[in-house]
Amino acid sequence: MSQEKSPKTPILVVDDDGDIRLALEMLLQYEGYEVWTARDGVQALARLDSEFEATGRRPALVLTDLKMPELDGLGLLARVKELESPPPVILISGHADVAVAVEAMQLGAANFLEKPLVDNRVLVTIESTVLAERLTRENRGLRRQLEHPWEIIGESVATQLLREQIQQAASSDASVLITGENGSGKEVVARNLHLRGPRSTEPFVTVNCAAIPDELIESELFGHEKGSFTGAHNRRIGHFEAAHGGTLFLDEIGDMPLGAQAKVLRALETHEISRVGDHRCIPVNIRVIAATNVDIQAAVEDKSFRLDLFYRLNVIPQRLIPLRERREDILPLAEHFLELAAARAGRRARQLTPEAQERLLSLEYPGNVRQLKNLLEGACVFAEESVLDVQDLDRILGMGPAMSAPGTEASCRDGDPFDAESFEEFKDRSEAAFFRRKLEANGGNIKRTAEQLGMQRSHLYKKLDRYGLRN
Ligand SMILES: Nc1ncnc2c1ncn2[C@@H]1O[C@H](COP(=O)(O)OP(=O)(O)OP(=O)(O)O)[C@@H](O)[C@H]1O
Ligand SMILES: [Mg+2]
Repeated sequence: MSQEKSPKTPILVVDDDGDIRLALEMLLQYEGYEVWTARDGVQALARLDSEFEATGRRPALVLTDLKMPELDGLGLLARVKELESPPPVILISGHADVAVAVEAMQLGAANFLEKPLVDNRVLVTIESTVLAERLTRENRGLRRQLEHPWEIIGESVATQLLREQIQQAASSDASVLITGENGSGKEVVARNLHLRGPRSTEPFVTVNCAAIPDELIESELFGHEKGSFTGAHNRRIGHFEAAHGGTLFLDEIGDMPLGAQAKVLRALETHEISRVGDHRCIPVNIRVIAATNVDIQAAVEDKSFRLDLFYRLNVIPQRLIPLRERREDILPLAEHFLELAAARAGRRARQLTPEAQERLLSLEYPGNVRQLKNLLEGACVFAEESVLDVQDLDRILGMGPAMSAPGTEASCRDGDPFDAESFEEFKDRSEAAFFRRKLEANGGNIKRTAEQLGMQRSHLYKKLDRYGLRN
């Protein structure tokens, strides 16, 4: 996390001189740092590896002596630089050797300290190095944000309120449960909560709970040791560990099997996980955001979702209302998507004619914002250079899933199986109609539908994707 100086920021001190090691350890501990120590480069690398393996942590920086037996300071610097997202390295030298200092800087040392060490100088150098590193990472994060804007577009009162609520919730570490229909913007909200909060430069890890087969969910979430079950050929880090320091987005949480729910609850309460096949506890520091489009309260009532987990996740509830109930958002969103499409094609954005605007405002959007986006992108393919007219929209509306509310005849993209031209098409249409009916009968709950049909949840999920039944 990008905090000022977190009291538990670890620093790795490497020196073959026990007195200096001890003096640095006491000084830094007194200043509130966590201190790891090593006698030489080899021991330092081993420590870096073991800490990373056990907890996924890297030190905020490495403070190393230059002259040491085994692997010396420059050798260690070169090896640290090979790590993924390497911590900055400060070298300590006994002699004011300009040539070595220059070489160290060329190899990418963040700073250089001379012996005898002066406490104040050490602390100032460490603090400025940690700060510079933080700024670099934040900069990287900001650039990323510019490249992948997750901007929330919309002028309705509901959307204005949503932006304010996100701003407030982003700075806290409390869990958020986002509910809303398909395509209503749950992921956009989750991304904003992450990007606008203190963890923005740390990982954002998404887990689609509906798409993982039951027997794999535990290992996906918590990782596993080599050989812990058939097919576990290598050690694997799970999503909880991968999100350490950052945000874990548990998408489609309503579809998580009960067994996994119990384990997730325990991990959230203890802030620790164990990999499958390993009894050791690994601390994880994550913020959890969950999302679902199923009626989770009903799932709690029929006991397919644990009440205690629901409470644990629902600390900040965030309900997204369907697009049809915030129609003031439709035109701003449409213009936004037209601009995006134009930017991608390196051209000017098309203007909507008044008739096209009227048509957009009159539709029901069971697939919400995603459906509006797809509609506009599709319409652009056939449209003239500078405008998008109602005929361009109607062409797409006549082809794809209709925009009426789900459950009505018109929304059945598959059509009557008996009108099919071939046997293949007949099978596809029948299958699509079958899954649509079953899904609707279960209120859109994939887990319950899969149970009723006696099929794997992840398998059903693939079918629904194939027939566009999640839109
Ligand atoms: N307010 C918004 N401003 C800009 N883009 C939006 C907004 N809401 C949604 N979108 C866009 O609409 C699409 C669907 O949004 P998103 O994936 O967040 O929905 P979702 O609720 O997670 O859907 P699902 O239930 O299928 O998982 C995305 O392309 C997203 O960028
Ligand atoms: Mg989503």
